[in-house]
Amino acid sequence: RKSVVRVTTGSQALDELLGGGIETSAITEAFGEFRSGKTQLAHTLCVSTQDINCGYFLFQLPTSMRGGNGKVAYIDTEGTFRPDRIVPIAERFGMDPGAVLDNIIYARAYTYEHQYNLLLGLAAKMSEEPFRLLIIDSIIALFRVDFSGRGELAERQQRLGQMLSRITKIAEEFNVAVYMTNQVIADPGGGMFVTDPKKPAGGHVLAHAVTVRLMFRKGKGEQRVCKVFDAPNLPEAEAVFQITPGGIAD
Ligand code: GTP
Ligand code: MG
Repeated sequence: RKSVVRVTTGSQALDELLGGGIETSAITEAFGEFRSGKTQLAHTLCVSTQDINCGYFLFQLPTSMRGGNGKVAYIDTEGTFRPDRIVPIAERFGMDPGAVLDNIIYARAYTYEHQYNLLLGLAAKMSEEPFRLLIIDSIIALFRVDFSGRGELAERQQRLGQMLSRITKIAEEFNVAVYMTNQVIADPGGGMFVTDPKKPAGGHVLAHAVTVRLMFRKGKGEQRVCKVFDAPNLPEAEAVFQITPGGIAD
């Protein structure tokens, strides 16, 4: 196994919960209610992963801040990536926003097949240039659209499994940290579909592919709470973090 690097989330409490940050050669998933900070963490990781010694930056993170050093690939299925959000986050970390943005390869996916093809293209790119982070926000959204009919669940899960095994291969082959967001499932209740913020979508196929599953929820004001939902080497503890103009913080 290649040497695993941990990428800081921007919050010391969250990093401690995760044993130092999100790790390379692994898949970290965040699910939870809307506006709980899943996408904001994605934006913060885009910056914090771009660390020292890569030669691209005027300003560099001190080693003590443990960035991951390398390029970032961002697959956006919901159209919620905001390049202008990267600017204050980069400034907070003392980095040049333009240089940080230049280092993020961004793609919007419109169907699950498109999402899969983007991954194939990225794998080719990663064999040529050093990448440290792959973001998929969200992993499941397009599957829900493209396999929405009755009786399509089995095929959806099969295709999802194929996509996830491709992602696992990318994580391990290129020593990349994968951060993916997931949605919560909607159960029929009282004649209506009600979302359950404690149930991640994707069933067993997703559960088995992911290394570290995190559940996010809203706290007071800008506070958010992250709970370790399932991870082989982490206690089922919680951490409180904040969403700030400079990204995820304590
Ligand atoms: P869904 O994708 O809807 O499921 O939600 P999510 O979990 O991805 O939520 P997201 O990460 O988008 O968090 C949204 C929250 O982040 C908002 O409610 C704001 O509180 C906060 N936020 C978003 N943009 C900014 C910003 O520019 N500055 C600050 N301080 N907070 C922001
Ligand atoms: Mg989001």
